[in-house]
Amino acid sequence: MNVAVVGGQWGDEGKGKIIDVLAERADYIVRYQGGNNAGHTVKTGGEKFVLHLIPTGILRPEKKCVIGNGVVVDPLAFSSEVNMLRSRGVDPAGRLYVSDRAHLLLPFHRELDGLRERLRGEGRKIGTTRRGIGPAYADKASRSGLRLCAILRSDFSRRVEERCREVSRMLQALGGESVNVEKTVAEIVDAAEVLRPFICDTVTLLHDAVRRHERILFEGAQGTLLDLDFGTYPFVTSSNASACGVAAGAGIPPSQVGRVLGVIKGYTTRVGEGPFPTELNDDTGTLLREDGHEYGATTGRPRRCGWFDAVAARYAVMVNGIDLWAVTKLDVLDRLDPIRICVGYEYRGRRLEGFPADSEVLAEVTPIYEEVPGWRVPTRGVGSFDDLPSQTQDYLWRICRLTGVPLGMISLGPERTDTVVLKDPFSEDAK
Ligand code: IMP
Repeated sequence: MNVAVVGGQWGDEGKGKIIDVLAERADYIVRYQGGNNAGHTVKTGGEKFVLHLIPTGILRPEKKCVIGNGVVVDPLAFSSEVNMLRSRGVDPAGRLYVSDRAHLLLPFHRELDGLRERLRGEGRKIGTTRRGIGPAYADKASRSGLRLCAILRSDFSRRVEERCREVSRMLQALGGESVNVEKTVAEIVDAAEVLRPFICDTVTLLHDAVRRHERILFEGAQGTLLDLDFGTYPFVTSSNASACGVAAGAGIPPSQVGRVLGVIKGYTTRVGEGPFPTELNDDTGTLLREDGHEYGATTGRPRRCGWFDAVAARYAVMVNGIDLWAVTKLDVLDRLDPIRICVGYEYRGRRLEGFPADSEVLAEVTPIYEEVPGWRVPTRGVGSFDDLPSQTQDYLWRICRLTGVPLGMISLGPERTDTVVLKDPFSEDAK
């Protein structure tokens, strides 16, 4: 059995921590989309690691990790992450594999990302992480990107140089700075040397793992509502962050993806622009931000906070085929009473069926709330479901009933040990 872990909201659901716990039961941990826009935080033994590109499984010394073909790889970010890990005693050599089909994210993609945001102007900005993700995927789709297999060729630096010159002309036409071609080529060639020993055919590697019945854990980044096809377009990222991206981004047949674990917070957050029906611009929103330390792991931006949205969660269940929930950060709700759950949307006087495609419609909906009692006692670190206050248990049951998905895991604090596994997603009879 393989397991895909995906975000059920707008990212930042605490996937890093859930993946870190499940990694113990897996042989391979595989990233399949996104790039270093992600920020997966893991706390272990009092130490905190934030990983942006390399799968969090790397923190477990015996695990093999893969960066799949669907990821866009910034060689500078990759080499600094490898250096950070090595300086903290984690050596990825011999157990980190990066797909030769993955696309390179180059410094001019970052420049273009910032420039496009500026050109969009106020009110139309996406609020990207400015890591160059959109422009790198745009190059991939327009068939002008460079893939990691190019690093293995003797003419790699010439190819980078040619691409830099093309983009430089385009940047100047857009009113941006021209590319410092010599400096960029030198930087990229140096960083590519760090990347080179990790590059391989990960399709065959994972195919062999499947044949040997080894367990693969797919590590989703961002979340369903940021998915390029199913998210709140255009306020989305540029990859398929939902489970739909696994097959295309890892080179695994859809029939082998296995079970899907959706990760949701007990409330909702979003960074960047775009509609957010249950957003709270009041003291409750501030409490969630402060008690939940809701500041972006990649950009440090304060996250927008709001109540749990069961309409969005039901949509995530549909798109991903979620088999089990992992509900995180429940302890952040400890001081709130009552707690609200959004159970429907009203739009211009009528109740909407489903989650609207049009972000302008979503921006106008009024959430229909149901109120449930809070528990008003600390739940941080509670070690079993049965030891939770009855109101916390009821809140969890209500989420499961509203979405039709059973509870697999809960997380009540940042440490590995603060996670309760009710149903192991790897086991055959977990559903
Ligand atoms: P991009 O992925 O940098 O292009 O940003 C597009 C949108 O996705 C913006 O709203 C970002 O804030 C959001 N985003 C990208 N990565 C993450 C993440 O890891 N967590 C939460 N939001 C993200």
